Amino acid sequence: MSAAVPRRGARQRDAAPVHAGPAIACRGVSVRFGDFQALTSVDLDVATGQTLALIGPNGAGKTTLLNALSGRLAMAGGRVQLRGRDITAAPIHARAKLGLGRSFQIINIFPEMTVLENLRLGAQPLAFGLQPFWRGVQGWPRLEERARAVAALVGLEDALDLPAAMLSHGRQRAVELGLALMADPPVLLLDEPLAGVGQAEIAATTALIERVRQGRTVLLVEHNMDVVMRVSDEVVVMMGGEVLTRGTPAQVRADARVRRAYLGEFRAAPGEESVHA
Ligand SMILES: Nc1ncnc2c1ncn2[C@@H]1O[C@H](COP(=O)(O)OP(=O)(O)OP(=O)(O)O)[C@@H](O)[C@H]1O
Ligand SMILES: [Mg+2]
Repeated sequence: MSAAVPRRGARQRDAAPVHAGPAIACRGVSVRFGDFQALTSVDLDVATGQTLALIGPNGAGKTTLLNALSGRLAMAGGRVQLRGRDITAAPIHARAKLGLGRSFQIINIFPEMTVLENLRLGAQPLAFGLQPFWRGVQGWPRLEERARAVAALVGLEDALDLPAAMLSHGRQRAVELGLALMADPPVLLLDEPLAGVGQAEIAATTALIERVRQGRTVLLVEHNMDVVMRVSDEVVVMMGGEVLTRGTPAQVRADARVRRAYLGEFRAAPGEESVHA
């Protein structure tokens, strides 16, 4: 945990070499809200290129962990590395520039603005002429072209000029994802991308997540277990602000402790069937 966020002016302009270690490495991450300990010493690695699902009952600390990773919340303790760089003290925009994108549990778009206008806003971190350092300047298309390309990726080419509020919930989720994709972040945090999406649109939104995860590292918080089983390489289960267990989707589904956690009656029992990180 020695490398530091590069200072302005010291930015690397060419495509960054692929980091060989984990894309995200958390060590001892703790978050407090007053007297309440929301996260207690969380250790978590997300391997480069993997899609890791983060599951757990309501209040487990999943969103809090994403907020700590993206810099929206100060940590009470611990360290975080992004692609080999220590970002523990880095502000939100610096993390974004280092390749971290995120979407939100509660849709975070501008309903009265068109899809195109929303996507342009998603490029705000880049609007100061600060290209993400993992892209060469010459390779960076103009904003509008980028917005159109992202719209095509998330299936919104036909809706560019519609106010976001006119779209179905599933398509508003696509706008939310599109905002996160404007900077083409190699590492993406997705907080319940299916929240509020109706049954009729689950398949399409799941297909979108499948598409978006290609070529990226994704940390996905999701309650829909069918989707988790389908799109993730591994699953981490959180409970009460701590990591309960980690395994393949099949291992986690078979874990009796996980079932109990979801039934709200978790008690550690000696010799209980479980998987471990
Ligand atoms: N800003 C805050 N101030 C005080 N307590 C908070 C704050 N944000 C979250 N908490 C508390 O921290 C705990 C973890 O919340 P968090 O939102 O991370 O849970 P979650 O796992 O994302 O749950 P859900 O599945 O419902 O989204 C909860 O007890 C919550 O009430
Ligand atoms: Mg949450």
